[in-house]
Amino acid sequence: MLLPLFREGLAARPACPGVDAVRLLDLFCGGGGGAMGYNRAGFTEIVGVDNRPMPRYPFTFVQADALEYVAEHGREFDAIHASPPCQHYTRLRHLPWLKVTSSRGIKASRSSSNF
Ligand SMILES: C[S@@+](CC[C@H](N)C(=O)[O-])C[C@H]1O[C@@H](n2cnc3c(N)ncnc32)[C@H](O)[C@@H]1O
Repeated sequence: MLLPLFREGLAARPACPGVDAVRLLDLFCGGGGGAMGYNRAGFTEIVGVDNRPMPRYPFTFVQADALEYVAEHGREFDAIHASPPCQHYTRLRHLPWLKVTSSRGIKASRSSSNF
């Protein structure tokens, strides 16, 4: 019973009161779990970017390299969220059956969104 009330309450509230719509760029968007949270917090214009196809992404989706996309289009957005692969930063990376090859995502995302 609590969940529907919670959902309605958040969806009705704009992300920034007094502002029509805040454009959110969702880099490394995956299937859209994070974006859905932003939507429930009041964000309505969301563009997600991932380098793999995401047919079930619930908002506007662009298949592209996230860092190339933010370099070209980042200034068109009011807010940027990035959730790059983080496997390199977990202790589980030492498990012999996991192959973690790159830490490019997090560091590169930080410097790419430094306009
Ligand atoms: C941690 S997951 C994202 C989870 C997502 N934010 C969510 O809420 O479900 C990382 C995503 O980054 C994507 N990815 C990895 N390298 C990328 C790149 N260079 N450009 C765009 N997407 C990339 C992967 O396909 C994966 O979907």
